[in-house]
Amino acid sequence: MIIVIDFGSQYTHLISRRVRELGVKSEIIFPFTELDAIKKMNPDGIILSGGPNSVYDKDAPHLNNDIWNWILEEDIPVLGLCYGLHLIAKRFNGEIGKSKRREYGVTSVTIKKSDRIFEGLEKKQRVWMSHGDKVLKLPENFEILASSENCRFASFRYKNIYALQWHPEVVHTENGMKMLNNFLFKICRCEKDWDMEDFMKKTIGDIRKKIGDKKAIIALSGGVDSSIAAVLTSRAIGKNLTAVFVDTGLLRKNEGEHVEKICKEFKLKFLKIDAKDRFFEKLKGVKDTEMKRKIIGEEFIRIFEKEAKKENAEFLIQGTIYPDVIESGSKTADTIKSHHNVGGLPENVDLEIIEPLSYLYKDEVREIGKKLGIPNEIINQHPFPGPGLAVRITGEVNEENIKICREASYILEEELKKAGVFYDLWQAFAVVLEDRVVGVVGDQRKYGRIVALRIVESKDAMTANFAKLNWNLLEEISTKITNELPEVVSVAYFISNKPPQTIEPC
Ligand code: XMP
Repeated sequence: MIIVIDFGSQYTHLISRRVRELGVKSEIIFPFTELDAIKKMNPDGIILSGGPNSVYDKDAPHLNNDIWNWILEEDIPVLGLCYGLHLIAKRFNGEIGKSKRREYGVTSVTIKKSDRIFEGLEKKQRVWMSHGDKVLKLPENFEILASSENCRFASFRYKNIYALQWHPEVVHTENGMKMLNNFLFKICRCEKDWDMEDFMKKTIGDIRKKIGDKKAIIALSGGVDSSIAAVLTSRAIGKNLTAVFVDTGLLRKNEGEHVEKICKEFKLKFLKIDAKDRFFEKLKGVKDTEMKRKIIGEEFIRIFEKEAKKENAEFLIQGTIYPDVIESGSKTADTIKSHHNVGGLPENVDLEIIEPLSYLYKDEVREIGKKLGIPNEIINQHPFPGPGLAVRITGEVNEENIKICREASYILEEELKKAGVFYDLWQAFAVVLEDRVVGVVGDQRKYGRIVALRIVESKDAMTANFAKLNWNLLEEISTKITNELPEVVSVAYFISNKPPQTIEPC
């Protein structure tokens, strides 16, 4: 397996996914991870990610010397990318400084020395760079492998420690995958054994071993992750799993039907709880979205505990996936949002939590879903947040706001499906804003509601771009929303990418 150490780059997940695409298990850890924990992972190689800092910054993250010494003693291959390259240079007493020109975008580099990392590649390579600092003096004993016009030390190496100033993980580096492939198989001598079929079988076995004859419950929301986690777990423990569908009143249109369909088709034991009133009551007057998340998380788990007691369940299965785990686990990064299924959970939960998908990225989860025979319309649904429509309403969560949010999202989804673009998008939904604007209805002025559309393309939700949809399609959607929802007089479109805006508005 390969360890990716996250120094704060927006591409850390991308690096990890690329490694898995090449058939090797990868895990992300943070620079403060203890050496013992790293040793236990028994990595074949380590990748140091990029990051926003300069290595001389006061609070810049570093890899501690214990780890470096162990790497050198054991001769563990290392690949430092961008900031990772600067870290290598600093550790071995090179010199790093501000580059006169910030290199950003596609750049041509020349390979100066043939090496395993560039095996099979031409001398000139188009690579993607994004750096303000560069190495000014190469550490002793290192040799230059590649240079660009502005960066003489664009790639260098000492034994099995490799450094690239560019990002092989992004698609703009034409042969980035080949470089990673060479690192994994020629330098680290990894085996290609990251395979979803194996993962599925192993997970089913692990769940069976852990739960045995005891009972478990799962919150089935109808979304991709919980549906797949439920079916996977039921393969392991059959009727000892109860799927609990809590109708929070904050779900998408038709979500309940999806849940029933899955349960019937896969013979899941199934319990439906109508908790709408309870959620609306608790959320009355609350506008702060972190508050909403906490309240929903807390209510949810309390309902669960009660049902679990009735069922005598000792385990709670959750559909948490890898990016949520990493985003919540980073002590160096600011808390961006407390994810409902991780950070939002109250601390004193009575059930033991099992998260069978917590190692997987979304595309991997979908692959498992396919192998389990789950229908495409469920597997290919857009992701939906645990706290539901509540985080798509900037004001209070009440019946009216939820109705507008749910109906407008449904109209949007249907229109995008008709236009044949829905499944190419990462997410597309409506947001209900608290402000009102003037509209004209009949001959009268009316302060009406605003629905803002968030429609994004993304690979893994860590970054996202707003979708450049056809104007006529957007106009049709807007007209349909204002026609069918008389409260709404205005439809807006978020034209910001992530970063700086997140995908969910709240
Ligand atoms: P953001 O808004 O952080 O979203 O750009 C990234 C991905 O995570 C989903 N998301 C959530 N999922 N609970 C969840 O289970 C949450 O509180 C939550 N907030 C965001 C979001 O839909 C997107 O796919």
